[in-house]
Amino acid sequence: MEIESNEYPVLVEMEEEEIPVHTPAVVKEPPKIHRLDESVVNRIAAGEVIQRPVSAVKELVENSLDACSASINVVVKDGGLKLIQVSDDGHGIRYEDLPILCERHTTSKLSTFEDLQGIKSMGFRGEALASMTYVGHVTVTTITKGQLHGYRVSYRDGMMEHEPKPCAAVKGTQIMIENLFYNMTARRKTLQNSADDYPKIVDLLSRFAIHHINVSFSCRKHGAARSDVHSVVTSSRLDAIRSVYGVSVARDLMKIEASDNDPSSSVFEMTGFISNSNYVSKKITMVLFINDRLVECGALKRAIEIVYAATLPKASKPFVYMSTVLPLEHVDANVHPTKREVQIFLAVKYYNCSCLLANDIGLLIHLISCITSVVKCGF
Ligand SMILES: Nc1ncnc2c1ncn2[C@@H]1O[C@H](COP(=O)(O)OP(=O)(O)OP(=O)(O)O)[C@@H](O)[C@H]1O
Ligand SMILES: [Mg+2]
Repeated sequence: MEIESNEYPVLVEMEEEEIPVHTPAVVKEPPKIHRLDESVVNRIAAGEVIQRPVSAVKELVENSLDACSASINVVVKDGGLKLIQVSDDGHGIRYEDLPILCERHTTSKLSTFEDLQGIKSMGFRGEALASMTYVGHVTVTTITKGQLHGYRVSYRDGMMEHEPKPCAAVKGTQIMIENLFYNMTARRKTLQNSADDYPKIVDLLSRFAIHHINVSFSCRKHGAARSDVHSVVTSSRLDAIRSVYGVSVARDLMKIEASDNDPSSSVFEMTGFISNSNYVSKKITMVLFINDRLVECGALKRAIEIVYAATLPKASKPFVYMSTVLPLEHVDANVHPTKREVQIFLAVKYYNCSCLLANDIGLLIHLISCITSVVKCGF
């Protein structure tokens, strides 16, 4: 049969879309599996722990908190890519520990796996400092109580670059990271192109400052005379929020408190401050601490936004600070490479549920219902 001329264009189109017929793949030998060089393993692991400058600041500040510091000062240059310097007045580091300080899996906070169940310190893996030495140049200056002088030593790839040098030092520890991601071209480029990390660092320090009110915090850009975060030790949480976030935020906050119903087996306590209907902001501020750990919970944040959206007449976003205390054995801190999330296990009788075990969802529902009732009654 002859094909009519007007059918040709259709045929041409079909030819273009035709799925190519693959010739059978040539059967290859399986690729050989080999053991990665330790330096490669370490650098890959370091890239996960220290994802960007703000993750390094978080690790350093948490180390300072673990060292019982009363004052923590942060200086940042070029969004943290050139320099991050964290100085504290904590207990310092022993001279004899300096050689292994930046090796992977060296820590003063954990000995057995079981210790992890009741861990109170922010750190436990012995990985943060090591990671920094694989992706940056680290210098530590430290002095312990009763010493006449301190020591300074630099590290690369987990190792000391030289013997610790005696030096003048003030109480505590100063850790400096220079040239972060100097050996990770892609990461450095992405960070240089993206908005600089300094606002994220200021935000992080602000969060720490309103929770740890027995510690004074400061954060400034290198060379700047003024600090962008400056908090003093206080006994009032509201004063801390006022000094960090400003009078306009603090005056529109309501206190919230919640605990489980059964005081004899009390496992859950939550205190916080949440904004009232006069508070106006385009973006939500959600500061959540669980057992003094700064964590994130996207589900809770979204739920709170919904609670507020239904209650507030205008599309204003809330300010929420919440500190929740649970028994240590109910919180698993070892679920995220940057310790940004924790897993919670709780018996749900506290939430009037019928099943045997609840996880984060149970707590979430409880927190949201607390917030909902305060928002509804408080306005
Ligand atoms: N600012 C500091 N003051 C006193 N000791 C410190 C300080 N920073 C680090 N250290 C000591 O160095 C050790 C190693 O710190 P690093 O942050 O690498 O590990 P970690 O805190 O034990 O665990 P993680 O990797 O989870 O943070 C700590 O256990 C602590 O003993
Ligand atoms: Mg640490």
